Amino acid sequence: MGQALPKGFLWGNSTSSMQTEGGWNEGGKGKSVYDVRPATENSSDWKVAIDEYHDFDEDFDLMAAAGMNCYRFQISWSRVCPTGDGDFNEEGIAFYDRLIDGLLARHITPMICLYHFDMPLALAEKENGFLSRHVTNAFIRFGKEMVDRFADKVPYWIVFNEQNLYSTTYAKHYAGVLEGGDTDQEIFTIAHHVMIAHVEIANYLHAHSSAQIGGMLAYEECYPATNNPEDILFARQINEFFNRNLLDVYAHGRYSNEVLTFIKNHDIDMDFTAADQAQFDQVKTDFIAFSYYRSDSIDSTKVPVGTVPTRYLDYGGVPNKYTRYNEWGWNVDPLGFRDILSKVYNEYGIPMFPIENGIGVRENFQGKEIQDDYRIQYHRVHLEALRDAVQQDGVKVLGYLGWGLIDIPSSGGNFDKRYGMVYVNRTNHDLLDMKRVPKKSYGWFKHVIESNGADL
Ligand code: BG6
Repeated sequence: MGQALPKGFLWGNSTSSMQTEGGWNEGGKGKSVYDVRPATENSSDWKVAIDEYHDFDEDFDLMAAAGMNCYRFQISWSRVCPTGDGDFNEEGIAFYDRLIDGLLARHITPMICLYHFDMPLALAEKENGFLSRHVTNAFIRFGKEMVDRFADKVPYWIVFNEQNLYSTTYAKHYAGVLEGGDTDQEIFTIAHHVMIAHVEIANYLHAHSSAQIGGMLAYEECYPATNNPEDILFARQINEFFNRNLLDVYAHGRYSNEVLTFIKNHDIDMDFTAADQAQFDQVKTDFIAFSYYRSDSIDSTKVPVGTVPTRYLDYGGVPNKYTRYNEWGWNVDPLGFRDILSKVYNEYGIPMFPIENGIGVRENFQGKEIQDDYRIQYHRVHLEALRDAVQQDGVKVLGYLGWGLIDIPSSGGNFDKRYGMVYVNRTNHDLLDMKRVPKKSYGWFKHVIESNGADL
């Protein structure tokens, strides 16, 4: 038995709209880019997911029965504003109103995320997603409307899921950019448009409510593959371009000096206006949220000369022989988790909130409780690392949310990759009965929450 976590620690679950809701063409919802993605041999389509649009009560009851007191969910932009920049859809807004009330009635604190890669299709097709200022402004309008509607009931907000992904080679996929989006100039523009949207909505939230806002990163600690000084330099540059560049804005309202110098030296125009600067000057961040699943290692000798640091891992990512890999090629590295918690808190002094963590596994329900000891082990070692960060390193951590704790499709739509502590009885191509069946880890997590993290 260890020492319990601080009183008021938040425990819970975390999801996105397209991975939970279904109801893709109901209640006045417009299409998002996900709604037109067909099923493939290894993935479902996005039309039903786990059908929470029609019934969230059973899932919320399961969360409450486990003692969870926080749920991070997303408001689908195309459900509440079908074209992205036109009229708001009251039926869609009423759905989230009911959902939030359903959480509050069960003493589950809601956390809203406003964007999780599902650009309204009309804005992707007509305006090319976040490469466009028009789309950026439309998103800011949507975000402010949601603040007006829900900030009095929802204390925690994040604007973008895994915001640093908009600085990568894959930015265009997350940003609804259908044409171009491959050059450094375009990627820095997408990343800036996303950042100014975060900043403007954060400023608006602070001006109009007492709710808290977090910046949110996909944080993968990147290690040098060897003690070759060039590997060490490359690992540091990845962290600077991929993580600190955003953290510096959240905390200080300015991009990293090193990244700005790169932008200047490469004549990149990322569409940073004087009005943007005025917004940056006011920004304040209440917590740093992040997802954590695994870590990376960089071998500098594999990276072509002149590559921008945000693309180093496209060429030089190598396995880490000191960590174990799961069947999807993701390693298990709880010390990387502690390292992030402690180093970001040491540097910025802003409370930390890991809002996604977990392991995706192939599982098959055969009428009996699934014995997912591997999942218990994964969460246990990460919670031990979190406790060490809190109790030995002095980090202020607001809570711990597992990802997809009631089974949902993976980011690629694959139901074979399950993160849940509750099984949902459907497969990629067969909806079966969608029954919810707790796995062994569900009971374990309930016990962990009861002891507030003392008994892992
Ligand atoms: C995060 C995303 O990157 O990781 C989720 O926010 C995603 O949408 C999760 O589901 C796990 O990744 P995957 O690909 O295993 O589903």
